[in-house]
Amino acid sequence: MRICILGAGGLGSVIGGYLARTGVDVTLIARPAHVDAIRRNGLRITGRVGECSIRENLTAVTSADDAEGHFDYLILLVKTKDTERALESATGLRPRVDTMLSLQNDPLRADKLRRWIEPWKVIGAVTIEGGTLVEPGHADNHVTATTTAYFGELDGTESLRVQRLTEAFTRAGLKSAAVTNIVQVTWEKLTQIASASGWSVSTLPAIPALYFVDGIKIREGAEHYVQLTKELLSVYKALGYQPQNFFSPFSRLKEIDSLSFDEAVQSSIGVGTYMEANNMRSRTSMHDDLLRGRKTEAEEIFRPFIDKAAELGLSIPTVTAVHRVMAVLNHYLKD
Ligand SMILES: NC(=O)c1ccc[n+]([C@@H]2O[C@H](COP(=O)([O-])OP(=O)(O)OC[C@H]3O[C@@H](n4cnc5c(N)ncnc54)[C@H](OP(=O)(O)O)[C@@H]3O)[C@@H](O)[C@H]2O)c1
Repeated sequence: MRICILGAGGLGSVIGGYLARTGVDVTLIARPAHVDAIRRNGLRITGRVGECSIRENLTAVTSADDAEGHFDYLILLVKTKDTERALESATGLRPRVDTMLSLQNDPLRADKLRRWIEPWKVIGAVTIEGGTLVEPGHADNHVTATTTAYFGELDGTESLRVQRLTEAFTRAGLKSAAVTNIVQVTWEKLTQIASASGWSVSTLPAIPALYFVDGIKIREGAEHYVQLTKELLSVYKALGYQPQNFFSPFSRLKEIDSLSFDEAVQSSIGVGTYMEANNMRSRTSMHDDLLRGRKTEAEEIFRPFIDKAAELGLSIPTVTAVHRVMAVLNHYLKD
């Protein structure tokens, strides 16, 4: 199997590295400093499965034109703000790709891909696996879930290409599932990300030393979290879905949906207390982007909920406020 990753930063390097380690022929298209470091020393991955250095089955290039040969799968993994530029730079790859997917946090990604390549080549994909580019040549893998990635045909049918990719990810230690409801999984992941990211960037960043746990254990922090999550869930449910907690153990959407406001606040404070007792200090990547002074994916993540809420006649004032605050900050953050 040959896989090309367009935009190998944190997540793309982790996924590409693990796939290469299990014999998949992987090409990473990445920034020059990362490519140079990989060519010199291999790709170093640290984190949840210890440390490894990968050289075998791994090619790193700085441009799509240098990615040689035919690929079974092309995975788009630039940040959403870079999608158009990355696709424009990769037109030479188009006829050399059988199947294309994106693991970005952008609900419109499949439509964008289907405008770029033959629509039938595009499949749906969602992951919660966590990867951060620590420095050129070194990615850290800090998050995984019981099932960490989902793949599916956008029309809900089953297919061999989805099955093969699911098996390759699972063999690589990224436990995955082939599903017939990938559009629902996409919206549920977006609900989860919008909730955790929107909450953290509107609560914590004024004090750079704070982590998720530091805010959620405080009553007012938990109240803001529950209010934001219940508003996001109102849109998700109005689309015809019921929360499933696809990304267990991180998903708590089912609980927050079924509990009253006060019960959900109490339960969220309990999560904070548990995180504190177990020294779980993590941040959402949107919070990290903000702390690094980098433009966030706030527009792509919150806008779809605001548009859908308007369409469906729902009121989501807290989500709208978070989006407005982030739009101001994004205006000044660097691209
Ligand atoms: N990381 C996670 O844990 C995680 C989990 C689930 C989903 N996601 C989603 O996955 C996407 C990628 O996230 P990420 O954290 O991996 O981002 P990232 O670390 O910023 O990786 C993207 C990489 O692509 C590079 N890039 C941009 N345009 C390029 C081009 N035309 N050619 C080659 N390289 C290019 C970027 O370089 P520059 O930085 O120089 O622009 C960056 O190194 C996002 O949509 C994110 O929401 C991430």
